Amino acid sequence: MIRLENINKIYGSNDVETCALKNINLNVDPGEFISIMGPSGCGKSTLLNLLGMLDNPTSGDYFFDKQCISQLPERKIANVRKKNISFIFQNYNLIDELSVLENIELPLLYQKISPRQRKIRITEVLEQMNIAHRANHMPQQLSGGQQQRVAVARALSTKPRVILADEPTGNLDSKNGDNVMELLKSLNDRGTTILMVTHSQYHAEYANRIINLFDGKIITQDANAIVKHYV
Ligand SMILES: Nc1ncnc2c1ncn2[C@@H]1O[C@H](COP(=O)(O)OP(=O)(O)OP(=O)(O)O)[C@@H](O)[C@H]1O
Ligand SMILES: [Mg+2]
Repeated sequence: MIRLENINKIYGSNDVETCALKNINLNVDPGEFISIMGPSGCGKSTLLNLLGMLDNPTSGDYFFDKQCISQLPERKIANVRKKNISFIFQNYNLIDELSVLENIELPLLYQKISPRQRKIRITEVLEQMNIAHRANHMPQQLSGGQQQRVAVARALSTKPRVILADEPTGNLDSKNGDNVMELLKSLNDRGTTILMVTHSQYHAEYANRIINLFDGKIITQDANAIVKHYV
């Protein structure tokens, strides 16, 4: 479903250049659950942003459903993204001025989903995430764990094929962190492809493959069973 070929990403101006990703090659099959690990600054978020089409590589090709994304105009890229991909972030990224319900509704509005369909989808994910009783609260009135459940609900409302999660449990205590991991696991069991950045070996092992990045390069990408064997 996803293929990265010889991807390089260089940030910088004339004086300082940072080579954030170096010659990345990666295949992702539908239904995979992949964890991305590595030290701070090694390029994990950069990789996730490229996968999410929020940023362009400096060189190399990105294929999504065999279509070369790098060659599409920005408007078409946005359409592929909206139709297929959702994000979950460490700091939830909810909009403080909008209620829980309105936050979840936002990506549906972008997709021009009808009011009736929006209502059905919102009710569905509010219940799935067990936050229906907080629908009219503002994000600041919720605990961190509840805010992340809203962020997961928002990510699910568009029924994405791919979820990209950047340290989704990074700000949560272990119980809420484990809850979010169980949610991601159950989505993956029902077919959603997941790529997740994490610093937690324990949470990484929910995945069926663990990619280790170091200094912008993929150093290992093992099936989780093999990784476990060596731990
Ligand atoms: N917008 C930017 N402009 C310039 N350099 C950047 C930018 N974003 C990231 N970098 C650099 O690229 C490298 C990779 O950054 P990235 O954010 O991908 O790391 P990370 O693995 O996600 O780290 P962390 O675990 O701390 O989140 C770093 O050296 C960083 O300083
Ligand atoms: Mg990061």
